[in-house]
Amino acid sequence: MKQKSAREMQKRLHELIPAGGHTYSKGDDQFPEIAPGLMVKAKGAYCWDADGNKFLDYGMGLRAVAVGHANDEINEAVCKQIALGTNYTRPSLIELELAETIVDLIPSVEMVKFAKNGSDVTSGAIRLARAYTGKKFIAVCAEHPFYSFNDWFIGSTACNSGIPDEISSLTLKFNYNNLQSVEDLFAKYSNQIAAFILEPAKAVEPAMFGDKNFLQKLKELCDKNGSLLILDEMISGFRFDLKGAQHIYNVDPHLTTFGKATANGFSFAFLAGKKEIMELGGIYHDKPRVFLLSGTHGAESTGLIAAIKNIEIFKRDNVVKHHWDYGKKFKDGINAIAKQKGIDKNFAITGFDCSPVVEARNTEGAIDLSFLTLFSQEMIRGGVLIPWIAFSKSHSDEELKITLEAAENALTVYKVALENGVQKSLIGNAVKPVFRKFN
Ligand SMILES: Cc1ncc(COP(=O)(O)O)c(C=O)c1O
Repeated sequence: MKQKSAREMQKRLHELIPAGGHTYSKGDDQFPEIAPGLMVKAKGAYCWDADGNKFLDYGMGLRAVAVGHANDEINEAVCKQIALGTNYTRPSLIELELAETIVDLIPSVEMVKFAKNGSDVTSGAIRLARAYTGKKFIAVCAEHPFYSFNDWFIGSTACNSGIPDEISSLTLKFNYNNLQSVEDLFAKYSNQIAAFILEPAKAVEPAMFGDKNFLQKLKELCDKNGSLLILDEMISGFRFDLKGAQHIYNVDPHLTTFGKATANGFSFAFLAGKKEIMELGGIYHDKPRVFLLSGTHGAESTGLIAAIKNIEIFKRDNVVKHHWDYGKKFKDGINAIAKQKGIDKNFAITGFDCSPVVEARNTEGAIDLSFLTLFSQEMIRGGVLIPWIAFSKSHSDEELKITLEAAENALTVYKVALENGVQKSLIGNAVKPVFRKFN
């Protein structure tokens, strides 16, 4: 029987799976029309689609892979663990080993609880904060796009269908680097806010207020008002620093959440923080019990052993420094091409070197998803899959060279599109925001 083409199989996916996949960020509406539809393999910094096309990868499994796809050392450790069984009837020795490793690694952490998804650990943090403070409102940072697929957060987005207003109305918004927006919430919802949750840093540094930065001031305000500070390090953790961006900015959150790059693409995330709070999820205290995280697969061992090995490699090979160094060359290289073409006002790679962002602007200088899609489309033509920018230790000089060659061609097309109109060069639709009311 003739094998179906990747396009045909991609269509079939939508007949069988809503959205044609299990993560909206991987959806058709997040990629240019010419993007590979179905992947079959990944190794190091590269991935292959079902038609056999090879791409240099900057998606890295939604940023989860930070050493490299199918890393031999990590895979070997995982295979050894598989031979010992993957799910036991009582807690396992590697749970203890990994808990010790994380508590030793991150200064703010006194206790830790494992899960398989970031969404679950942020939701665990919210439940814990509500239980500990006895308050019901949660404040999320408006500039940071995603914290969880659960109701407490999705209810606050435009895509809130299926979530009662009673739940959505409990999630409030504040602005990054804006202390006034925090003070305003404390004034309006006096003594009712359980927690403030945010990524420590995304595209800009925390601003300084006197000798303290925004995060330190936010922590002070939380302490003063009886709220908890939750730092969500799902993206920044293991990329800004192995101890998280909280280490760089010298802030001590009450609770913190990590996932993604902690286990090189295996399923692992953790909620961690102060003992006094975390312990409410325990079974040896006399306070009301908090049903914290409790999953059949919470301590499934492949993710745990992958995290142990991943942390070992991060420490041994200084992977974080590699990300910062590679990122600087990546940013400088692409920005130099944009400048040389005279389009640096319309196109730039900005943000932190370890976790940059693409800023694609139109002729008016406004951020424009059509131009962003065009850049992504043309990079794909050059063999580079770059829906966002995530590095791994496997991205090296050779990969930088491939990237810059692809960018040279992509930005030539970009310049033409600025002159002649983007629709003439764009194949299919522009990418769309994930959080929209209607398709
Ligand atoms: C900042 C942040 N928090 C939480 C999550 C949720 O993590 P997961 O996709 O593992 O559920 C994400 C995922 O993109 C994230 O970027």
